This record gives sequence, structure tokens and C-alpha cells, in this order.
Amino acid sequence: MALVTAVRRLAQVSLRECSRRRTAVSCGAWLTAGRSLTSGTQPLRSDKVTVNFINRDGEKITVKGSPGDSLLDVVVNEDLDFDGFGACEGTLACSTCHLIFEEETFKKLGPVTDEEMDMLDLAYGLTETSRLGCQICLTKSLDGMVVRVPESVADIRQTKDGSS
Ligand code: FES
Repeated sequence: MALVTAVRRLAQVSLRECSRRRTAVSCGAWLTAGRSLTSGTQPLRSDKVTVNFINRDGEKITVKGSPGDSLLDVVVNEDLDFDGFGACEGTLACSTCHLIFEEETFKKLGPVTDEEMDMLDLAYGLTETSRLGCQICLTKSLDGMVVRVPESVADIRQTKDGSS
């Protein structure tokens, strides 16, 4: 009987882990996040990461997200009203999630992929510290970062269609 209970408990833990990792894998960071969030087989509650967005009106909006969430996840989860942001839902097809980072924060971000670079090249108001929010995952080292939303967005899909 004790063996059955132990097997059931192990299966529940594995399912929870699998579910959490599936969420984080879209960010490509589940290995890192998993290491910091677990101890043995017991998941620990993660500390939230504070993100300060500067919106198009220059207002600072402070929200929190979980390690492993993308900045697009944070915008969606917190229901932030950034017009047109994240139009392709993180499929690297629009560049509307373009964000501008402070120099120090930018250096802490993971490497940019060729696919992200291709989309960034088409973003409105590109800067030296621009990245796509759907490709940036929260880590504790980014806690307190300040991220600026560009004045406008360019939805590449509409440009290709000739509809905008
Ligand atoms: S949401 Fe479209 S490229 Fe990031």
C-alpha cells in the first residue's frame, strides 16, 4: 500500500513538473528555471520578478511576473493596454512586441536568434538595446528592470499583406 501511495505521489510531482516546464519551454529557459524552482522533488514557490514598463505616454507601470514568463506573458497576464502589442502571440511573425531596454539590462538578456533579429530589423524605432518581448524570459537577475514600449508598432504581417 505504501508503495502505491509513493508511486502516485511521484506521478503527481512529475505531472506538475511537466506542466510547468511546458509553459517555460516556449521561452527556451525551462532548464534554468527548473533548477532554481525545485529542490529534490518538491517544487518551491518562486519569487516574483518586478518589471517597470514605460508606456507610450511616458507613464511607469510596475507589475510582477514569474521567472520563466516572457515579457509578452507579463503584458497579457497583467492585462496591460499597449495598443497592438503581441499581435502574433509570440510566434515571431509581427515585431509588435518590440521593447527597448536599458543598457545594463540589455547585457543580461540571452542571445538573440536569427529569427528574432530578422523581425527586429523590421520593428518601428529600432535601437541598439531593442529586443522582442516575446523572446525575453524573466529571471531573478532582471528584477526591477525598466523597459520602454516604443512610440509606435509595425506589424510586419500587415506590411507584407499591403494592408497597412
Ligand atoms: S509577439 Fe509577434 S514577434 Fe513577438
